[in-house]
Amino acid sequence: MSVQKNLILGIESSCDETAAAVVEDGRRILSNIVASQIAIHRSFGGVVPEIASREHLRQIVPVVREAIKQAGISLSDLDAIAVTRGPGLIGALLVGVTYGKTLALALDKPLIAVNHLEGHVHAVFLEGTDDGNPPPLPAVCLIVSGGHTVLYRVESESTNGARRFSYTRIGGTRDDAAGEAYDKVARMLALGYPGGPVVDQLAAYGDPKAIRFGVPKMKGNIYDFSFSGIKTAVLYHLRSHPEFQPEIAGREQSLARGERSADALRKLSTPATLDLVASFQRAVVDDLVTRTLAAAQQHGVRSILVSGGVAANRELRATFETHAKRHSLKVFFPSRALSTDNAAMIAAAGYPRFLNGKYEDCTLDPAANLPLA
Ligand code: KG4
Ligand code: ZN
Repeated sequence: MSVQKNLILGIESSCDETAAAVVEDGRRILSNIVASQIAIHRSFGGVVPEIASREHLRQIVPVVREAIKQAGISLSDLDAIAVTRGPGLIGALLVGVTYGKTLALALDKPLIAVNHLEGHVHAVFLEGTDDGNPPPLPAVCLIVSGGHTVLYRVESESTNGARRFSYTRIGGTRDDAAGEAYDKVARMLALGYPGGPVVDQLAAYGDPKAIRFGVPKMKGNIYDFSFSGIKTAVLYHLRSHPEFQPEIAGREQSLARGERSADALRKLSTPATLDLVASFQRAVVDDLVTRTLAAAQQHGVRSILVSGGVAANRELRATFETHAKRHSLKVFFPSRALSTDNAAMIAAAGYPRFLNGKYEDCTLDPAANLPLA
């Protein structure tokens, strides 16, 4: 007897990645296409919303076409279309939502709205544990990227074979997201855009204890984060040490020549810069890990999930692994490809909604500030 497989097309356009993916039964990735706009936004040092919308418009059709082709299926084989409704840039979301609605209408397939943050949670479930099972719930999930730094408690219950997930917000950043702080510090130091991957690599060559960046005490909710203070502390450090300026100018020239690899930039960096970068990273990582662990203990959960672009950071991963083991907690990260924005995670997050029959109609609108909980 052949078992019916459900194929969901995921569409993601909330920020600067146009992405489409086909996922079978919420677990098996048949294709996962991401068209990144990083090269286009690089010269501006950040994502320019208007340019992002135009790029999504240019990319959405070829990206979806490629996802269908690589999955080895045709559009008519799809069982549903899942699209990111929010949060994100409104003009960027509008492209994906409009395209998803149109496709669902034309193909007469169910349309599912997905919260981008729920997608990041499901990026972890897509790969599961070494034994092939999903991470045990309840869990505390840290979503940490260029746009978000937020902690949720994640639970699920099964009804008629369909899992229903629920989320409770525990805390989140009151100002910059952690990835944003990485990008801004990298910009001050002329380390290119996005800054996270280069800072990650350079930090390994510096002394993380060289400079003490204080962790802010959060009044009210102790599970909230704040990264604008550390960013400003780096700025003041640079202002009070003019000797950093010649090498910053040297790296700016390197970036202008297109020489932006971590190796090239490291060769143009003094030990003082490497120490600064290492100290910045240690402060951010310690803060993320400490608050997440405290939340996990207070909520009595069995596992910690870490997702979003910054989850690719090597020191963050290593520090979580060490501390979680000490507290008998299991920590799960998606692979690098699924840490950053992609549509496989959107299709996966849409699957339980598909099984529960939670469909949208043509009145679906994007929502820039869509809350998860
Ligand atoms: O999830 P993502 O692709 O996009 C959103 O912001 O939603 O995350 C991108 C962010 C950028 O701020 C980038 O600097 C940061 O993730 N990032 C990293 C690393 N790789 C990417 N931050 C620290 N270490 C990394 N290895
Ligand atoms: Zn994201």
